[in-house]
Amino acid sequence: MLKKLTTGVALALALATGPVLAAGSEDSHVTDYDFSFEGPFGSYDQMQLQRGLQVYTEICSACHGMKFVPIRSLSDEGGPGLPEDQVRAYAEFYEIYDEDIDDYRPRRPVDHFPESSLENAPDLSLMAKARAGFHGPYGLGINQFFKGMGGPEYIASLLTGYTGEDKEEAGAILYENTAYPGGWIAMAPPLYGEDVVYADGTEASMQQEAQDVAAFLMWAAEPKLGARKQAGFTGVLMLAVLAALLYLTNKRIWAPYKRKAKKAAPAE
Ligand code: HEC
Repeated sequence: MLKKLTTGVALALALATGPVLAAGSEDSHVTDYDFSFEGPFGSYDQMQLQRGLQVYTEICSACHGMKFVPIRSLSDEGGPGLPEDQVRAYAEFYEIYDEDIDDYRPRRPVDHFPESSLENAPDLSLMAKARAGFHGPYGLGINQFFKGMGGPEYIASLLTGYTGEDKEEAGAILYENTAYPGGWIAMAPPLYGEDVVYADGTEASMQQEAQDVAAFLMWAAEPKLGARKQAGFTGVLMLAVLAALLYLTNKRIWAPYKRKAKKAAPAE
C-alpha cells in the first residue's frame, strides 16, 4: 500500500514537472551557490543587496525594468536599507509621465522602478521567483527544498554561463549560455568583471557581481522573506509548546483510570 502510494506521488510529481523538462531545463547547468538568505534562519545581507542594487542600476536597468517594485522599499528594514534622502535622490534619477500635469516629472519614492526599456527584455521584478528551477533527481524540483537552489542560483549561473560563442539566427544574434534552457540566449553577456566600482570596496569580479545582483533580485521578488521566516518560526515554536501541553493534559486526564486498571490487574 505504502509503496503504491509513493510511486503514485512520484508519478504525479513527474507529470507535473514534465512540461518544464520538455522546455529544456535538463541541459542547463545551474551552480549551487551559498546565499546568506538560505535555510530556515537565513536573512539578506544588507551590503550585498546594496551592491546588487548598484549592479542592477548601472548595468541591467539599461534594458530591464522592475515595474512592480516601489522605489521606497529600498529603505525598508531587511532590504538594502538605504537612508530616505538617498532613496529620494535615487527616485529623482528616473522620469515618469504624470497624467495630472500632462508632463514628465522626476519620480518620487512612492513611484515604482521603470519598466523595461528594451522590448524583448523581460521585467525582473519577479524573475528570481519565476525561475525557481526544477532541479534534482528525475527533475522533481526538490533541490530547492533540500539545497536551497532556485531562482538566484539560476540568475547567477546565467550571468556567468556564457561560453563566448555566438550565432546569427533569423536576423538576431544568439549567445551560447550553459545555464539557459536551450543553450542560446538573445541577451548579450552583460557582465565581464570590473563593470562597476563598488562603494564598499568589494572586488567587482564577474562572480561577485553576478551573485550580488542575483541576491538583489531575490529581495525584489520576495522582500518580506525575513518576516515570513520569523512568523513561521514563531508558529512552529507555539505548536511545539501546545503539543507538549496537550501531551501532559492527556496524561493527567487518563491517570485515574490507568491507576485503576493497574490495581484491577493482579486480582484477575
Ligand atoms: C543589452 C540589454 C540587456 C542588458 C544590459 C541585460 N539584459 Fe538581461 N535580457 C536581455 C534580453 C533581450 C533578454 C531576453 C533573452 C531571450 O529571450 O533570449 C534578457 C533576459 C534576461 C533574463 C531571463 C532569462 C530567462 O531565463 O528567460 C534574466 C534573468 C536577465 N536577463 C538578467 C539580467 C541581469 C541580472 C542583467 C544585469 C547584470 C541583465 N540581464 C542585463 C537584455 C539585457
